Amino acid sequence: MHKLPVIALDGPSGVGKSTTAKAVAQALGWNYLDTGAMYRATALALQRAGVGLEDREGLERALAGLRIQQRGTREFLGDEDVSEAIRSPEVTRMVTPVSADGRVREVLVDQQRAIAGSGGWVVDGRDIGTVVFPDACCKVFLTAGVEVRARRRALELEAKGASVSLAEVAADIERRDLADSTRAVAPLRKAADAVELDSGGMGLEEVVEWIVALHRRH
Ligand code: DC
Repeated sequence: MHKLPVIALDGPSGVGKSTTAKAVAQALGWNYLDTGAMYRATALALQRAGVGLEDREGLERALAGLRIQQRGTREFLGDEDVSEAIRSPEVTRMVTPVSADGRVREVLVDQQRAIAGSGGWVVDGRDIGTVVFPDACCKVFLTAGVEVRARRRALELEAKGASVSLAEVAADIERRDLADSTRAVAPLRKAADAVELDSGGMGLEEVVEWIVALHRRH
């Protein structure tokens, strides 16, 4: 079977996928696509339009007018840079139900294939190896224990000046893991031909080297 030159990087929240994917793309001279940011931008657009998921006509209109674009590592809705707005706690809450909607996924998966389908992309998400690019040449399922992810996330939040409880951060991560892996449409799971990497005891550089080496073997 013809394999597409795409590195599919899937895994749960807070495992460091985007940092890893960016670094792998840089090491290979490839592009990087953050599909989580696309779901977040969609959630933000729906929130701004005041459209709930139960309003199917409103949803169709909003999806038809959706102009999401990644420029470098910044995310744009139309001409507005929404890179910070899509990381707000409110959007983070809303994106779980929005990303579980089959119609939203259909539209965004089409866009993801149009952007990265010609190859030379590192794509991170939850369903890249299973649904979006099942013929990707290289699939990595990145994991790390909840405690490890919670500690990393808490450090990130503290660096931004937030005061956080580790237990709350861990509970939030567990909630998202459960929602992402039990939803009906495109749940988070490892593709049969993906290689699982537990990055718990590893530094970023080591993870990046491991993925680049795997890619070169393929
Ligand atoms: O990776 P992230 O936290 O930015 O992702 C935001 C949300 O979008 C998260 O709830 C999982 C969901 N998501 C998805 O369902 N499929 C993807 N390919 C990427 C993200």
